[in-house]
Amino acid sequence: MDTVITRLDAADFRDRLPEALGVYVDAMGYPPQVIRSRAAAWLEHSRRAGWSGFAAFEPPRRRLLGPARGPLVAICYGYRGAPGQWWYEQVSRGLRDRQRELPADYVELTELHVSPSHQGRGIGSALLRNFLAERTEGTVMLSTPEVENESNGAWRLYRSLGFGDVLRSHRFDGDARPFAVLSRSLPLPEQES
Ligand SMILES: CC(C)(COP(=O)(O)OP(=O)(O)OC[C@H]1O[C@@H](n2cnc3c(N)ncnc32)[C@H](O)[C@@H]1OP(=O)(O)O)[C@@H](O)C(=O)NCCC(=O)NCCS
Repeated sequence: MDTVITRLDAADFRDRLPEALGVYVDAMGYPPQVIRSRAAAWLEHSRRAGWSGFAAFEPPRRRLLGPARGPLVAICYGYRGAPGQWWYEQVSRGLRDRQRELPADYVELTELHVSPSHQGRGIGSALLRNFLAERTEGTVMLSTPEVENESNGAWRLYRSLGFGDVLRSHRFDGDARPFAVLSRSLPLPEQES
């Protein structure tokens, strides 16, 4: 049966938060305790200006009676970047060191995660395309952990969609890992069929 991709409004997202955070820790390989520590941040994000999100659901087991959607298997959300946001300030610091600055008009792709059992089937790509298709900003930006030879699904997805380097081996406060900051202009070109 096919996975259903749908827009989430912010209230819907908050209702589905435990499930979405479960997908996040499974996809990132984090211990379940991380769910508690990220819940407040994800809730706060959902109240930011320009927040939008998409999710993928399994179809419901019973089609006529019972819930309209099955379990959530993937989540994608982001919001309009603005001064004062933690990510904006952290990336601005890295850019300032290189005499550069963030674009005035960008959307931050904050989270994109597909449950490990559902990866590699085009769900991450479809979620991201749906998310970006509705954005009005001229640029999308994101950060992702550096990985040797860019050899994971996230890097392959971002490169295949034309994301380019903004910062490499950037250190965010409170995280020992090096990150890349990537961006691309919007809108995406129409998908070739
Ligand atoms: C990154 C992630 C969201 C991609 O979602 P996905 O549903 O697995 O990816 P898709 O099946 O849509 O693949 C999209 C493209 O990425 C590439 N890709 C993704 N996973 C791949 C894999 N395991 N092997 C090879 N290519 C892969 C392919 O180029 C694919 O392009 P195609 O459509 O031409 O085949 C998912 O792998 C994930 O949740 N990873 C762990 C969490 C994570 O890293 N999130 C991002 C943090 S910044």
